[in-house]
Amino acid sequence: MSQIRLVNISKIYDASPSQAKKVLAMLADDVDSTDIRQQTGYSVGLYDINLTIESGEMHCIMGLSGSGKSTLVRHINRLIDPSTGEIWVDNPVQMGAEPLNILTLSDKPLQKFRQHNVSMVFQHFGLVPHLTVIQNVAYGLRVKGIQKAKRHEIARYWLNEVGLDGLGQRYPDELSGGMQQRVGLARALAVDTPIMLMDEAFSALDPLIRNQLQDQLLELQEKLHKTIVFITHDIDEAIKVGQRISILNKGRLIQTGTPEQLRNNPVNDYVAQFMHVNG
Ligand SMILES: Nc1ncnc2c1ncn2[C@@H]1O[C@H](COP(=O)(O)OP(=O)(O)OP(=O)(O)O)[C@@H](O)[C@H]1O
Ligand SMILES: [Mg+2]
Repeated sequence: MSQIRLVNISKIYDASPSQAKKVLAMLADDVDSTDIRQQTGYSVGLYDINLTIESGEMHCIMGLSGSGKSTLVRHINRLIDPSTGEIWVDNPVQMGAEPLNILTLSDKPLQKFRQHNVSMVFQHFGLVPHLTVIQNVAYGLRVKGIQKAKRHEIARYWLNEVGLDGLGQRYPDELSGGMQQRVGLARALAVDTPIMLMDEAFSALDPLIRNQLQDQLLELQEKLHKTIVFITHDIDEAIKVGQRISILNKGRLIQTGTPEQLRNNPVNDYVAQFMHVNG
């Protein structure tokens, strides 16, 4: 399957390579990101992230607002390119047998990499309003060139899997938020990629519905064993769904571990507070 390795990933927003180099030198001297923004005007998205997300793992990324969670996850499908570093994916589908540094990909192979390897579930569902539920789920398959009868068969299967059997002909605005996100999940699953990215995917939902979606995801993952990067700012959610959790603060990776490891051996107060206050 698909292990993901981030190696020395730094992202300084809107900086040229030479400007980024100066900011990185400040970060290496332990200057705080907030001070850097005040002094230079540049936003630090991430600084020197080294992280291996194992194949088949549900890995949570946690941290306060602005800590770099979305920046990190968007690197994995290259919605964002880093200022420095490498991102390696093992056994990428349809991209040869060797591990691949996805930053080396030009437009065409990048498109192919995304199509076959990475799907995404969005916080605000991201459904196309004028397409029916089944058309929304089948959309990624259409892009992949799968013919209509087949893609609707696949879409029906996944709608059934997420508990929306029989609702394929409805439009998104005829569904509750929880149901819409089930459609979002079915759409991401239908394209059959080994990697799934979820950026605050359940954050917009009521607690009860959110719990149901978490259970559903865990149940599906038992069968699917995808490599899932799950962003949340809710430690309870991270503990429930994450096999391991990475804690970010101001663009730095503070600690990675199982919930037990973070609880028993927090490296600093920031981690301890997350685990103590809410855990
Ligand atoms: N497009 C951008 N241009 C400039 N700075 C940005 C951009 N996107 C994010 N940043 C900055 O990068 C840092 C990390 O932001 P990011 O959105 O990754 O955090 P986050 O952890 O996802 O926050 P939230 O919980 O609010 O979603 C912040 O300081 C933010 O202001
Ligand atoms: Mg975010």
